[in-house]
Amino acid sequence: MQSTSLTVNGRAVSVSADADTPLLDVLRNHLGLVGTKFGCGAEQCGSCMVLVDGKPEKSCGKALSTVAGKTVVTIEGLGTPDKPHPLQQAFLDEQAGQCGYCLAGILISAKALLDRNPSPSRREIAQALDDNICRCGSHPRILRAIERAARHMREGEAR
Ligand code: FES
Ligand code: FES
Repeated sequence: MQSTSLTVNGRAVSVSADADTPLLDVLRNHLGLVGTKFGCGAEQCGSCMVLVDGKPEKSCGKALSTVAGKTVVTIEGLGTPDKPHPLQQAFLDEQAGQCGYCLAGILISAKALLDRNPSPSRREIAQALDDNICRCGSHPRILRAIERAARHMREGEAR
């Protein structure tokens, strides 16, 4: 057991856990950030996606030691119920989900996409979600929601 320091959602944290503890377990069990979901546990479904230094990564397969000193953003770091991120608002507006289990991971992948490409084509959005599975088949509404968020974010910047 050792202590590992990292930044999570803008807050410096120090976690006492074995170096090979999956980041997903650290987030959910040590830090109480249960928005990030355990799906397959085998880096196949994307429900555990978080941003590590701005890049989408599957937290179920990432050892704590590999994120020492890095910056992690989870779904809780995107927005709040009072002030949702434009992506979260667009997902609500489009009702882009059924059970919702995949959505935290999908929102994280979508944020990474819009951060690097504010005006993605539908094909680019689909490619960015290649690692995210939605078992409910909500993909058409998810794609529409990401397009809507991108549009709103561009309009917001133009004002
Ligand atoms: S739980 Fe990590 S990819 Fe499925
Ligand atoms: S909304 Fe159920 S898995 Fe995507």
